[in-house]
Amino acid sequence: MAYKVPRGTQDILPEQTPKWQKVESILRQLSHVYRYKEIRTPIFEQTELFQRGVGDTTDIVQKEMYTFEDRGGRSLTLRPEGTASSVRAYVEHKMFGNPDQPVKLSYMGPMFRYERQQAGRYRQFVQFGVEAIGSSDPAIDAEVISLAMDIYQTVGLKDLKLVINSLGDKETRDAHRTALINHFRPSIGEFCSDCQNRLEKNPLRILDCKKDHEHPLMQTAPALTDYLTEASAQYFDTVKKYLDVLGITYVVDPNLVRGLDYYNHTAFEIMSTASGFGAITTLCGGGRYNGLVEDIGGPDMPGIGFAMSIERLLLALEAENIELDVEDQLDIYVVAMGEEAKLKSAELISSFRTKGISADMDYVDRKLKAQMKSADRLQAKFVIVIGESELEEMSVNVKEMETGNQEKVPFSELVNYLLEHK
Ligand code: HAM
Repeated sequence: MAYKVPRGTQDILPEQTPKWQKVESILRQLSHVYRYKEIRTPIFEQTELFQRGVGDTTDIVQKEMYTFEDRGGRSLTLRPEGTASSVRAYVEHKMFGNPDQPVKLSYMGPMFRYERQQAGRYRQFVQFGVEAIGSSDPAIDAEVISLAMDIYQTVGLKDLKLVINSLGDKETRDAHRTALINHFRPSIGEFCSDCQNRLEKNPLRILDCKKDHEHPLMQTAPALTDYLTEASAQYFDTVKKYLDVLGITYVVDPNLVRGLDYYNHTAFEIMSTASGFGAITTLCGGGRYNGLVEDIGGPDMPGIGFAMSIERLLLALEAENIELDVEDQLDIYVVAMGEEAKLKSAELISSFRTKGISADMDYVDRKLKAQMKSADRLQAKFVIVIGESELEEMSVNVKEMETGNQEKVPFSELVNYLLEHK
């Protein structure tokens, strides 16, 4: 029997990891610059956390969670996202008592959703996300959005579209909810069973339905923006003002709804507009979630954040033909001829590595020519060949592969030479 990776998952092979590492290092660097400190929460949590946090009527909770019972009979779930866990940690560790609010967190790690596999949609994917908990200043909304845009711009993406919307406050959503129920109720029989269930529980979800999105009533559904309270509208205006000041271009889309229940006020997504990008164009999604901290058992603290998968970021780079400038240089390959030369090579390589010079040699007894080919394939910057005469003279020709230039360097000077020239 041939084993394969589980459907919806992938191996990231050694040829691909440098790209991942490059993206990860950009994410870490920007988190540092924007002051979002990393939090690491468990891969699994109590199932209830997500039912409560993400919302009972969402697709994620209803259809996509990897839920299992542990040997102690507890229901646990592999995290489908990072916000609920971050908020749980914020409450559990009483970070609301921290004098420096908002608490700005970032995270990066695998998330799990039992989704239909397609380009850009996996069952295990790596999300990078941030959460700013403890402030309802519109300026932080703009900061969070600008960090997301900054990430994509730093990796070199150009074909981006930022879409924003306001989902308003509780009063806004209650009024809109009633309007939606009245709009859909007379024809709800024409909708899928999920939508029928959603009508009373969470009619906003109907707008997000993957099956019924072509139904004509979707186009004429009452827009939430028409129900924004004055305070909500003003909040949204201020967010936009900050975005303008930061020079961030956006499109307001009153139909933007997000697939998770905790959102209110600012909601946003960043899409790739690159031609050749698959059907799923959303690279990043986020928004404000005032009320979630309280729902999870904490005080009334507001929050906002976003998450993006590294998989989709890499797909967007591919769609725009952008090669990341990855550093994976082999500084020197040492070719050894004979047992004694091999001993010397091992000694030299060790001295190189302690100085941070990346070095490699042959371990499968290949002939000179094959070793040279290896050095070529590995794109070594320098090659040295150690044989009897080199051992006698205690020096070696250092060949720069790209130029073919050679220079004779004593063994004792090799480290310094390489440090200077690599
Ligand atoms: P989300 O929209 O469910 O939001 O996911 C955010 C991002 O995660 C998506 O835009 C996409 O890049 C990536 N993503 C989601 N599902 C998959 C998948 N199956 N395969 C590959 N990538 C995927 C959240 O998760 C919220 N927690 C975001 C947030 C943080 N809101 C506030 N704070």
